[in-house]
Amino acid sequence: MKGKWLGAWGAVVAAGVVTAGAAQNRQVSYPEGYRSWQHVKSMVILPGHPLENPFGGIHHVYANSRAVEGLRTGSYPDGAVLVFDLLEAKAENHTIQEGPRKLVGVMERDSRRFAATGGWGFEGFAGDSKTERLVKDGGQSCFQCHQGASATSYVFSALRP
Ligand code: HEC
Repeated sequence: MKGKWLGAWGAVVAAGVVTAGAAQNRQVSYPEGYRSWQHVKSMVILPGHPLENPFGGIHHVYANSRAVEGLRTGSYPDGAVLVFDLLEAKAENHTIQEGPRKLVGVMERDSRRFAATGGWGFEGFAGDSKTERLVKDGGQSCFQCHQGASATSYVFSALRP
């Protein structure tokens, strides 16, 4: 009898460990080295645009090699990562110049770990920080808007020649 109870307790502890491991597993990694990846496109979002807060400024989209494969074929293998590198845009002498970095938005493909958000993990890293995370809802609010791109696996950007 005692053994049975101890066994059950052991199972609870083991389940706890597994759950904690899975939760940690759902973290999106900082996209180390993304500035050397494929540049996909850039856009300036000006004051008055509905996405001004928090996406106002100039952003560049980057894709790692698996994400480039996804952009080409429409099917993203696990490990595909897309980055939305957002900088302040400063009007200067009839030009628009890059200012300080506002945030690094990331989409990381893992169809199992991120099943709740379309197979993509969403995260934002504040400014130049690799550790200060901005997403507090498991990526649900990011994913809600990205559902507008459901025909292209929730990715808005497309490759151009
Ligand atoms: C209100 C809508 C909206 C929300 C909310 C939103 N996004 Fe996006 N996101 C977009 C649009 C539109 C683009 C395409 C931008 C372009 O064409 O340059 C985009 C592009 C991206 C890209 C580049 C890949 C792609 O789909 O083009 C990443 C990475 C990204 N977003 C991450 C995030 C993260 C992380 C969050 C949550 C913190 C988030 N997004 C929230 C609309 C949104």
